Amino acid sequence: MQHSAKHLKRVTAVGAVALAAFSLSPSVASALPTDNPGGHRAAPDATVVGGSRAQQGAFPFMVRLSMGCGGSMLSDDIVLTAAHCVDGSGPDTSITATGGVVDLEDPDAVTATSTEVVQAPGYDGTGKDWALIKLDRPLDQPTLATAQDDSYDKGDFTIAGWGADQEGGAQQRYLLTAQVPFVDDATCKSAYSGLVEDEELCAGKMDTGGVDTCQGDSGGPMFRKDDAGEWIQVGIVSWGEGCARPGKPGVYTEVSTFAADIEAAAAQLG
Ligand code: ARG
Repeated sequence: MQHSAKHLKRVTAVGAVALAAFSLSPSVASALPTDNPGGHRAAPDATVVGGSRAQQGAFPFMVRLSMGCGGSMLSDDIVLTAAHCVDGSGPDTSITATGGVVDLEDPDAVTATSTEVVQAPGYDGTGKDWALIKLDRPLDQPTLATAQDDSYDKGDFTIAGWGADQEGGAQQRYLLTAQVPFVDDATCKSAYSGLVEDEELCAGKMDTGGVDTCQGDSGGPMFRKDDAGEWIQVGIVSWGEGCARPGKPGVYTEVSTFAADIEAAAAQLG
């Protein structure tokens, strides 16, 4: 399998996080306010980097994937994730999807095993960072609608994941969530000359940093409310330089660009 340098870097990062245990790590404690040494409450504005713990049931469409990525339920038995989280297309029984919980050690967690993977056609490590995973049984979780056009590519977005809570940090046992503002393509291009404007969108606090997705959040959704007040997915966690650095926003697959391709691939998976 051929990788561009950028892709290889990302895959290496995923491999590293996949090896990390899901145990409550010291980095969680260090993300807590110092006046809360008990650590039973997440920092009020702290994820992800700079987030807080998600309430059980708040984002029921979120799943954790065993290779160390996130994903969202596209249908009963199909997960939408990032192309760089999977290893090409075809039959694949190596991935476990865990859903229904914010605590990965909750006995109420529901799991299913992959049967087949579709990696975005033409994916070469730049752009097109989406993939579908077909499961061996329905997870019976609510699905997350995908944006069909770019009209929701603005405003504030919600991010969520079990990835690192700081650059180089450990994977999380509890789902963390935060809000990040949209960053327009021109501004994002000034941070990343390699941005694929039609296929990627950016979000983050350009001035201050401090809030972002991070390693292990890849493949998970970035979403917001649509005009009817329903959650709609606008992005897939893809990449960034470090995590939560000022001037270095997170880069997300622009879901609306691939909405038709994703739907067609899902229909083929049956
Ligand atoms: N590539 C990372 C992963 O595999 C996601 C990194 C997101 N980085 C960021 N700064 N938003 O988990």
